[in-house]
Amino acid sequence: MKLRRSRVLVVCVLCACLFEPLAEAQEKSVRPGINKPFENPDVKEFIKKFEVESREIFTKREEIVAACKLKPGMVVADVGAGTGLFTRLFAVAVAPKGKVYAVDIAPEFIRHIEKTCDAAGIKNVLGVVCSESSAKLPPNSVDLVFICDTFHHFEYPLKTMKSIHEALRPGGQLILIDFHRKKGESTDWVMNHVRADQDVFMKEIVSCGFKADGEEKILKENYFVRLKKVEAKKVESGERAQGLGLIFESLHMTAVATECGSSNAMWMRWAGK
Ligand SMILES: C[S@@+](CC[C@H](N)C(=O)[O-])C[C@H]1O[C@@H](n2cnc3c(N)ncnc32)[C@H](O)[C@@H]1O
Repeated sequence: MKLRRSRVLVVCVLCACLFEPLAEAQEKSVRPGINKPFENPDVKEFIKKFEVESREIFTKREEIVAACKLKPGMVVADVGAGTGLFTRLFAVAVAPKGKVYAVDIAPEFIRHIEKTCDAAGIKNVLGVVCSESSAKLPPNSVDLVFICDTFHHFEYPLKTMKSIHEALRPGGQLILIDFHRKKGESTDWVMNHVRADQDVFMKEIVSCGFKADGEEKILKENYFVRLKKVEAKKVESGERAQGLGLIFESLHMTAVATECGSSNAMWMRWAGK
């Protein structure tokens, strides 16, 4: 009996070892080239794009910050912080004891945020240059992650969201703002630039251990949704073998990498969601 159990254990460990690299290998970039403009960005040019009255996100920034319901002392991560539009506003909202991680793949943006915070006497911002597949935040350290106009820039959304899940504390919140993408309604620019609509993005995020937790109707061109971290135990439904979880994960990764429509739906059926 003991021998049988240890054989099962060995098989499980082998499966996990085999599937882990498979899963890693299978998340291909869902949008190669989307971040080309952020390689050596001219920060001044991007300020003109991100911090202008013609951008809904900018004109509604105060409403957006209010809807985040931040409290002093909270730890917030602005993932895809860009020129720091929200980082600076969040820093004031959580001061004096709270802090904000400004996270971006572009070191030039992080340097700019650190410089402007210094100049404004804002001392509770920490810059993080992250990678394309991880937010590089300390585990269990953040109360709220804010992703504005950035999810559609994630080339490896599942790995990135997994890293965000790990960075959030139990019960941690996630706020997602992105463009509505509707055939016949959205501009050609949005249809071409944003790879998928709200439903697809939500399914991807939920599959990484989050649940929807409401929506604020304060924007027109964009949506504002809240999500909450679900603890790993609930995601994996009890004692389900890790190998099985990895099979689902690698299937989902293939689905996202190939096409987010039909193959994703197929995975959802497989996973019984
Ligand atoms: C359209 S900008 C939005 C900037 C800011 N959130 C705003 O709304 O003003 C997208 C930002 O996401 C960053 N980005 C792209 N992929 C990323 C990733 N995997 N992790 C973190 N930031 C990323 C880009 O460098 C860029 O600064």
